[in-house]
Amino acid sequence: MVETKVWKIEAVEDSREAINEAAALLKQQQTVAFPTETVYGLGADATKEEAVDKIFQAKGRPSDNPLIVHVGNAGQIEKYVAEIPEIADKLLKAFTPGPLTLILKSNGTIANNVTAGLSTLGIRIPDHPVARMLLETCKLPVAAPSANKSGRPSPTSASHVYEDLNGRIAGLIDGGITGVGVESTVVDCTSEMPMILRPGGITKEQLEEVLGPVMVDPALAKEGEKPKSPGMKYTHYAPEAPLWLVEGDSAHLQAQIENCKSAGYKTGVIVSRETATEIEAENVKICGSHANLKEVAVHLYDTLRAFKKSDVDIILCETFSETGVGEAIMNRLNKAAVKKINQL
Ligand code: TXA
Ligand code: MG
Repeated sequence: MVETKVWKIEAVEDSREAINEAAALLKQQQTVAFPTETVYGLGADATKEEAVDKIFQAKGRPSDNPLIVHVGNAGQIEKYVAEIPEIADKLLKAFTPGPLTLILKSNGTIANNVTAGLSTLGIRIPDHPVARMLLETCKLPVAAPSANKSGRPSPTSASHVYEDLNGRIAGLIDGGITGVGVESTVVDCTSEMPMILRPGGITKEQLEEVLGPVMVDPALAKEGEKPKSPGMKYTHYAPEAPLWLVEGDSAHLQAQIENCKSAGYKTGVIVSRETATEIEAENVKICGSHANLKEVAVHLYDTLRAFKKSDVDIILCETFSETGVGEAIMNRLNKAAVKKINQL
């Protein structure tokens, strides 16, 4: 156990002292959780293996799953990669700072356990004032996975981080609720044809506007195939009770609610505002609207975390359109679910 120091940031202008203390801990090879525009990250000095080890220990993360390196500006990226191909250059100009991670060839400067022994490196420039101030102050490349216990939904508030990691990390900067709600889009820029390895905050449509056609790792659509991004093969985002994903209309969802009830299960339901008006159930949580999938992204992980195993035996969740950020939402829900029920 370590004592986790928590700094609450009310206004970025007044956060200098807190950021200085947090940066000092990073320089002392300690771990610090901080807000980004996507989810909270758990940071450590990406050039020091011992520091990075503490991230894996705190999260219980498998060591073959590489971490994303966070830097404050595009100029920093050059220091850690072998080259910046044209695709990457275009993406940097169009989308950074922002919810995008580039996979580039590493030049070997970053600690080996960050890349899990791969010859490539995931790197991004977060678009959050606290994250940027921290990166500028510590002047380090910061390795940071999402700041949750491995397998749990990613944290979109400091209380989520606290719940999972209090006593296991040196510091936590509470900068309020994150904006995007789902993680960055991971794009492999190491071959001619750019490929999405993980859908996220920047949509395929947005990438294609800048790059032309973009591929999606075929393993994301097919079960049993090995994904190119090591992290995509693990069970992930799991709430405390088993999640069943229910496809189809509200009548079909209602039938599943009744089935669960007659089987004696205490059932939680996650739905859109629209569907909520069409069903009858006891434990309903609304995660947003079909008309605004960005809102669903913002609330997704918080809603998954809101159901406690003491309250429900099963969680039923409706599906969302796989357009725009819906692709990332459905990617996460499919991973979080233990069972899918289609409408025949
Ligand atoms: O929005 C985000 O990206 C957040 C915030 C904190 O920045 N971070 C995040 O990190 O989601 P994490 O560790 O939870 O997910 C990183 C993903 C994993 O799926 C990992 O396998 C993949 O990025 N990744 C990292 N380096 C890679 C590489 N060299 N090649 C392929 N995939 C890589
Ligand atoms: Mg994660």
